[in-house]
Amino acid sequence: MDLGLDGRTAIVTGASRGIGKYIALELAREGCHIAICARTEADLEDAAEEIRAEGAEVLALPMDVTEAGEPERLVQETADRFGRIDIYVGNVGGNRRGDFEELSDEDWDDLINLNFMSHVRVSRAAIPHMKEVDGASICYISSIFGRELGGGGLSLYNTTKSALISVSKVMAQELAPEIRVNSVAPGSIRFPGGSWDQRVNEKPDEMAQFVEENIAIGRFGRAEEVADTVTYLCSERASLITGACLNVDGGQSHSLI
Ligand SMILES: NC(=O)c1ccc[n+]([C@@H]2O[C@H](COP(=O)([O-])OP(=O)(O)OC[C@H]3O[C@@H](n4cnc5c(N)ncnc54)[C@H](OP(=O)(O)O)[C@@H]3O)[C@@H](O)[C@H]2O)c1
Repeated sequence: MDLGLDGRTAIVTGASRGIGKYIALELAREGCHIAICARTEADLEDAAEEIRAEGAEVLALPMDVTEAGEPERLVQETADRFGRIDIYVGNVGGNRRGDFEELSDEDWDDLINLNFMSHVRVSRAAIPHMKEVDGASICYISSIFGRELGGGGLSLYNTTKSALISVSKVMAQELAPEIRVNSVAPGSIRFPGGSWDQRVNEKPDEMAQFVEENIAIGRFGRAEEVADTVTYLCSERASLITGACLNVDGGQSHSLI
């Protein structure tokens, strides 16, 4: 299947490692030029080299996307370098566990900024550029815990990931037909050095039991599987899909909607 992504330009936030890097690699394999960002410059450069090895031109911008002006700089420098923006993958995100009663305003501000507002700001800056090309697409990386209860201690994560799905649905309505907007909801994704990998290495028996009890297909998801889904959603082949949230979770989630 030709995805028709050759020569397009994609921004992927939080792409020095993990799911974001795998998404950038897959988009590069399909012929996209890539702009990536993360805070740790050395890791970002290593990732950029890996992505260049796939034949892509890569703009690697070390930055904290929660800092004022940085989302707009990411977009402007991408447009200046490549002359167009076709795809925005809002991948950056994190978790901060804590009992609701204990979480401070600062905790809420930090996670809302990272998991939600960074994507709002990059999207808002990118939309005028994306409207100038045919077949533009935005994809946010949410979580199955944006679609259903994640459990105690996850109020920040649950709330911000739900908000991302919610806003993508409204954006899909407002930005049609020029820009499609979707989200992806990964389950537990294991990759070398990632949080699930660390947990498996620390507590293999406990994690084996977790997988058996929680993931229907009987294994963790792979970052490549999320990357393939995102790449498809961002391509012309998904031209009728907008406002959708797609689980990539091996049957881990239980939500009916
Ligand atoms: N892994 C899973 O099982 C899973 C499941 C569901 C959803 N997700 C979602 O998928 C996304 C990626 O997860 P992951 O597990 O791949 O994460 P990860 O391994 O922690 O990687 C996060 C990436 O974002 C960068 N980053 C973090 N804070 C940043 C900031 N303030 N500004 C710029 N870059 C920043 C990190 O680099 P620096 O630290 O150097 O900045 C890194 O490149 C997240 O939105 C996560 O919530 C993951």
